[in-house]
This record gives sequence, structure tokens and C-alpha cells, in this order.
Amino acid sequence: MGYGLGIDLGTTFTAAAVAGESGTRMVPLGQDVVVPSVVYSTVEGALLTGVAAEVVGAKDPVRLSRGHKRRLGDPTPLVIGGVAYSPAALLAAQLREVVTYVTAQEGAPPEQVVLTCPAVWGPYRREHFDEVPRLAGLPGARIVTEPEAAATHYSMERRLGEGELVAVYDLGGGTFDTTILRARAGGMEILGTPEGVERLGGMDFDEALVAHVDRSLDGAISALDPGDPDSARALAAIRALCVRAKEELSTEPDVTLRVPLPAGERELLVTRLEFNEMIKPSVELTTEALHRTIASAGLRPDDLAAVLLAGGSSRIPLVPQMVSEAFGRPVRVGLHPKYTVALGAAAVSRTPAAAPPAPPGTPPSGEPLPQLPPAAPEPVAARTPARRPKWLVPAAAAAVVVLVVALATAFLTTGDEDAPAARGGDAAPAAPLGDGSDGKEFTVFDKADVGPFKSIIGSADNWAGTFLGDGETAKHTAIGVTPGKVGDENGLHAVWSGKGAGQLYFQDTRGGRDMTRYTTNDTALVFDAVVTKAPAVRTTIAVHCEYPCAAQVEAKSLFSKLPVGKKSTVRIPLSCFTDAGLDPKKVNTFFLVYTEGAFDVSLANVRWVPGAAKEAGASRCGDLT
Ligand SMILES: Nc1ncnc2c1ncn2[C@@H]1O[C@H](COP(=O)(O)OP(=O)(O)OP(=O)(O)O)[C@@H](O)[C@H]1O
Ligand SMILES: [Mg+2]
Repeated sequence: MGYGLGIDLGTTFTAAAVAGESGTRMVPLGQDVVVPSVVYSTVEGALLTGVAAEVVGAKDPVRLSRGHKRRLGDPTPLVIGGVAYSPAALLAAQLREVVTYVTAQEGAPPEQVVLTCPAVWGPYRREHFDEVPRLAGLPGARIVTEPEAAATHYSMERRLGEGELVAVYDLGGGTFDTTILRARAGGMEILGTPEGVERLGGMDFDEALVAHVDRSLDGAISALDPGDPDSARALAAIRALCVRAKEELSTEPDVTLRVPLPAGERELLVTRLEFNEMIKPSVELTTEALHRTIASAGLRPDDLAAVLLAGGSSRIPLVPQMVSEAFGRPVRVGLHPKYTVALGAAAVSRTPAAAPPAPPGTPPSGEPLPQLPPAAPEPVAARTPARRPKWLVPAAAAAVVVLVVALATAFLTTGDEDAPAARGGDAAPAAPLGDGSDGKEFTVFDKADVGPFKSIIGSADNWAGTFLGDGETAKHTAIGVTPGKVGDENGLHAVWSGKGAGQLYFQDTRGGRDMTRYTTNDTALVFDAVVTKAPAVRTTIAVHCEYPCAAQVEAKSLFSKLPVGKKSTVRIPLSCFTDAGLDPKKVNTFFLVYTEGAFDVSLANVRWVPGAAKEAGASRCGDLT
């Protein structure tokens, strides 16, 4: 069956997603889902891209190009290793590599390729970007703007009401883009003039941090001579260290950097508050740009239903905080803000191209976006655990360390390493439980985590997910959870505050498993619940088959009907989820509760039980819509 391919050639990272009969999904571009947007020119003149380029480039930084998307349209060619390249040629090398890789993975070339570019680019840059697919041998590729793609993805995740107005705020690695969209029958409409700041993104925050470290170390970094190979390697390592530190500060209040200067290592503590001060003026520029976009559409902030955040830099906590303060509107961050653009581009690839195409740079105001299929999943999770050590490593070793950490985190639990052995551990769930693929009963949570499943909460504070440690409380603005303790009959206690959307879920972070055998033996999701306060607004229970594959049922009335303060056992047939679109072949999130209102419940003994769909008291799927 044919498929369409969406590619987000970002300034710092490249991502790809495919859309076909079975839906839209990310395609990992190797070990990782996204690859760095870097190109390495070998002595023979060949161009390496992505991880391969980064690994060799760490030893030989003068032959490595990064951030060249920002240079598109610049008449001065980039000279790498003595050879001149246009930025378009380097982007074309990246594009070609991604298409070749995905073609090999999918077993056939894509029927349609959709690329994305910043909305703020004018005709000149758009013309240069049009060269990229041509140079890559893909003359039929379509191009949509990044916020259009992001909005397309969001509108698939959540059905937007007719006439609903949303702003897309995309803060990536190199550019900031913002656009206002109105949902209407048959598609979405861009209102006003998309705005942005061409050279504003995570790379600038990296530079701000490098400059701060330099000042703190009395100019030891600026004293390095980039022409000297040893100094060049040290500079590349320090830069990578600062990128990691910056990302670390999104979850940690402070980080200790070990700065690898040629004269020896220097240690420095950087706090999130210090970092916030460094980037605040830049974030203010973004909110000013969004104010202008709103005004250009003849609107006021109050007219917006929400501001949708995209781009990796929107994971910096200061960003949603300042956007929320500046506009007073609900701010939504997808779980993987980096994936949003690629997933949206893939969705666009399944729609007919608008004909004739607008000339490059035509203001897209009033242009309808493609009609979209009905909304499906809430923002959700498929990630490796976010263990955040208080140390950082020199970047020369970063590639190796990233791999080691990836492997290690695949086998480690998150703060409950001691506990799972008694309950099965990561390696082997205890007999006689099944493993979730053999058709036998299995438990994903009893009164605490049951390895390898993890309990996680997500909300706008951190859609990427906060893991519940062993016996620890996890708290966001919208949801707080206290895990059950030994002897605590009611299990985990979850309280949604009503201050925004929040979700609690149990996931095998190592990936999906095939539950096909459970589709033929009347299996049901079974759990014990003690409701203290029933939800008053839409509440869903979902099962996920690797984001964005998911299925959900409506559970407000289910929870509302349970007696308050008394334990009840709930049984929801697996068929309710498969009917709602669950692909049973790759289930990784076995139970997820989501609501935007206040809700107070204790949950225990979450399990999948063959035969339970036929037991008295099992829910009927028709009651869960
Ligand atoms: N947890 C995090 N905290 C802070 N910054 C982050 C985090 N995760 C990713 N980033 C930053 O996000 C940026 C990458 O975002 P993204 O991949 O959306 O940008 P891009 O598509 O490459 O760039 P652009 O859209 O500007 O062309 C990088 O600067 C990266 O360091
Ligand atoms: Mg981007």
C-alpha cells in the first residue's frame, strides 16, 4: 500500500513521518527518531549527513556544517573542508539521505513527499528552498509552511470546533514562526500574516549559555583559537555540553558543567533562573511577534481558543509560562513538540495538492488547509525514561554516551530499581502472569509500579512525562499523584486540580508489544477505583499503540456512576479500544486517564484479564462514547 512522506528539515534536527492506510506515524531515522541537521564533507568530497556526520565531525569539526538552513539564500557559499557548497546543496544531501533511508525501511518509495519551511520566509528564500527537492532528485515534492503542518497535526489530535481560532507558536532550533488559524468545515484557514523572527531559536539560547560560561571562566572560551585543531575540538565539545545543559535545565533547577578546556577541566554550576534571565529578552520577542500576528488578523488574544506550542525549544518551561502570561489563553504543548511538523506534513501528503500552486512567497492568508480525518488521540507518550543525572559529559564523548544512556535507560527503571524484583522486574514478569503478548492475564500496576511498566503523569508542565519514583509524589499544576505504599489498599492516589489538562498513564517505555492474542479471548482492561470526586467534564481512558497510534473511550459517566469513597472494579473490553482504532500489534501504553477538569481517584490492580469482558458488570462499549 502506498504512503506519503512528511519531512521536517529543521535548522538543528531533521524528522520524518509517514501517512498511509493505517494512519500517521514517525519513522525513526536510525537509532533515534530524529537526526541532527549536520553535513560532513569527506576528503574525497562525499557528503555524510545525520549521526554519521556528527560522529566523524566531532573529531574533525572544520569539515562539519551545522545550522546551514539559516544561511539559505545567502550568496556567500559555505566552504567546508576547502570545498564551496550552497546551503541548498547541503539541505538536498540531507533530504536525499532521509528519502533513501525511509524507502529502505518501508520497502518502497513514497508516493508523495511533503517538505516544510518557515512561514516567515519571503519569496527570495522560498525560491532557494524550492531548489532543495530539485537538487535531491525529487521535483514533485510539495512544500507547506511549518506552522501549517503543525496546525494540521494538532487538528488531527483534537477536533477543533467550527470557527475555533488557534495560534501556532513554533520555537525550534533556528527560527521562530507564528500563525493564526481558524477551523472551518472542510479545512483550516490561515488568518492575517504569519509572523516570526528569522534568526531566533535554540541555537541562540546555546550561544547565550556559551557566552555565560565564557564570562564565568574569565574569557577562557573566547581565548581559544578556532583555527587550531585542538581548540576547535574543545570549542565543539563545549558547545555540545552547553546544548545538553540547556536541555537539562528544562527539567532540573540547576546543572553542573565540566568544561573541557585544553588546559584542563573547569567546573561550573548554572541554574535555571540564570538561564531564564539569559533568554527572557528573546522569548519576549516571540510574544511580541505573536501579538502582531493576532492584530494582523483583526483579532484580540481573547478570541483564541488556545495557543499551540511546537518546536523543541517550547519545552523550556519559561516559554509556556511567558506565553500564558502574555495572552492569558490555554497553552498546549504536544508531547513531542519536535514531531508535530513532520507528522502534519505527512498528513498533508495524503491530501490532494492545491492547484495551481501559489507562487513562492504568496501570502497564504485565507488559504484553506486540507480537510482532515476526525480527531483521534490526546497528547501522549512513547519515550525513554528521563533520568537526569546532575552531571554532563564532554561532547567529544557525547555520541557514545548518548548510545550508552539510551541502552542503559532501556533497562533501568526510574528510581524504583530495588522494588520491581519482587514484582517481576524489567527482565521477566513473575509467573504466573503473562507478558502481555501470550494471551494470559498480566498486571501493569498493582499498588505500585509492576516492572517493566512505569507510572507517568503528563500535562502542559511537562507533556514529555514525569515518572513516579518509588513512593514519591509527582506534581504538576494540572495533576498530582501519590503512589500507593505497601499496605495501602487503595493504591495510587491521583488528583486533577482542574487547572488544565493532565494525564496519568502506565507505559512500557521500551516499546510496544503485540496483544493480538488478546483480541480473541474476551480480554478486558480491569482496575479497581475509589472515586473521591467524580469528573464533571470530558474524561477519557485510552490505550496507545506507540504515539500517535491510540484509541480512547469516554469515561466521565463511567467514573461518575461509581459510588463515592467505595472501591469498585471496572472492566472495559479490549474490543472497545480496537473498535476505536487501537492497533493491537504494538501496544505500549496500557491504561491512560485524561481529563481537563477536577477529578480525584485512587487506582489499583490495573490488569488485562482474558474472559473479563464477559463477566457481569463489564462495561458496554456503547456506553463509553
Ligand atoms: N528539553 C529541551 N529543553 C530545551 N530545549 C530543547 C529541548 N529539547 C530540544 N530542545 C531544543 O530544541 C531545538 C530543536 O528543536 P526543533 O527540532 O523543533 O528545531 P528545528 O526544527 O531543528 O529548527 P527550526 O524549526 O528552527 O528550523 C534545539 O535547539 C534543541 O536544543
Ligand atoms: Mg522546526
